[in-house]
Amino acid sequence: MELRKDFLWGGAVAANQVEGAWNVDEKGLSVADVAMYRSNVDVKNYAKQVEINSENIQRAIDTKTANDYPKRRGVDGYNRYKEDFALYAEMGFKVLRLSIAWTRLYPTGEELEPNTAGVKYYKKVFAELKKYNIEPIVTLSHYEMPLNLAVKYNGWVDKKVVDYFVRFCKTCIIEYPEVKYWLTFNEIDSVTRHPFTSAGIIPEKSKNLEQDEYQALHYQFLASATVTKMIHEMLPEAQVGCMLTKLTDYPSTCNPEDILASFNSNTLNYFCADVQVKGEYPILILNFFKQHKLNIKITPEEMLIISEGTVDFISFSYYMSLVSAADESSLEMTSGNTVISGKNPYLETTEWGWTVDPLGLQISLLQLYDRYQKPLFIVENGIGAADILNDDNTIHDDYRITYFKNHLHEMKEAVEKGVDLMGYTSWGPIDLVSAATSQMSKRYGFIYVDADDDGNGTYNRYRKDSFGWYKHVIETNGAEL
Ligand code: BG6
Repeated sequence: MELRKDFLWGGAVAANQVEGAWNVDEKGLSVADVAMYRSNVDVKNYAKQVEINSENIQRAIDTKTANDYPKRRGVDGYNRYKEDFALYAEMGFKVLRLSIAWTRLYPTGEELEPNTAGVKYYKKVFAELKKYNIEPIVTLSHYEMPLNLAVKYNGWVDKKVVDYFVRFCKTCIIEYPEVKYWLTFNEIDSVTRHPFTSAGIIPEKSKNLEQDEYQALHYQFLASATVTKMIHEMLPEAQVGCMLTKLTDYPSTCNPEDILASFNSNTLNYFCADVQVKGEYPILILNFFKQHKLNIKITPEEMLIISEGTVDFISFSYYMSLVSAADESSLEMTSGNTVISGKNPYLETTEWGWTVDPLGLQISLLQLYDRYQKPLFIVENGIGAADILNDDNTIHDDYRITYFKNHLHEMKEAVEKGVDLMGYTSWGPIDLVSAATSQMSKRYGFIYVDADDDGNGTYNRYRKDSFGWYKHVIETNGAEL
């Protein structure tokens, strides 16, 4: 079976990792603007976010430069988006996944009317994409909520934030009706792994952090469903997806104890998709709340909205797989995407410790499709590596080509077996600031950006070897990898 004729090839970025221009055109501070740079000192621990507390938030607020806060400068995408889109068009992109920074439209999140400069900016962005017939896929929340809502309400723990988010989304729907593909929350399941980045929760303000995380998640489900309904009503042609971190977990041995540990890890990973696809909480999760003595406020009215706002497709990121054991101390650990997990002895890891598991992508696609029978969309996949820029401005990233080739091969195998797959967007088609560490030196792009961790450099863009390779993949609709 071939890929769909209209297979949506492209790349994915997030506003806070590419745009920079953190204090331009009335933009407000977001949680990303207070994320400090962290060097990659220990791959066993690096997935952990820098501890966030009121003191370092205040220090960040008082700091009026981008020093130490690389997401404030991004890769200057705010000014260079035309150049970047021309390069994406050269590769033949059909789609570009990007996010709309909430703080450009609503600087504190609480304004009643949007900031005109912010609204105008994304109009220009979408018009530029239109020139190349590249369809935008818009993520409405990608780790960049207004800092004000975190500080004032402890983020999504407070139901008021639902209304603020819905107001922001309504503006997006009204102002950008040409957008056909929408994702509500990036990696919604990550609230329980990095509560500040995903939900604006400042841990020291929580009496019971686990309870607050699940409460925040519930309100994100509510907001997501409300917005999904709204898009369905206001833009009947458009489609809405949920977005998960697909953390496929393997048991470390065939000991039933380890199988159970792995099952539990997968159940927690599926939980958010279960709610957003089926419109109800899985019974195992409701019991998990009871067993953990979590008192989550969930009303019948909220559940009605959640049941009416289910998604049209399931999108997900896939970088690596996990290993679980009943006794974690028996495992060697390694870093991964927002997690630390057992190291798989059968697989290699990247320089940042992430397990490279192409077959895991096929397994993930099969499992997701088997569970939900909904169209799937891979909206993030890629390898972070320390590329070398040669004197002649070439970058020989054969390791990246190998990574993509192997993953796309497994993706095609899954389609061959009957999975309905809408498209594939690599993360990030251009080098950008790392979400977890704010490093520039952890590079994902087909396009190199000449900037270092301290923000020095020309910010010129150069095509890596993988650029031409991906272009050819798209030209042949994945037939030639
Ligand atoms: C995903 C995020 O978790 O992984 C992206 O949606 C992120 O925002 C990507 O950039 C890769 O992670 P990192 O930490 O290497 O940038």
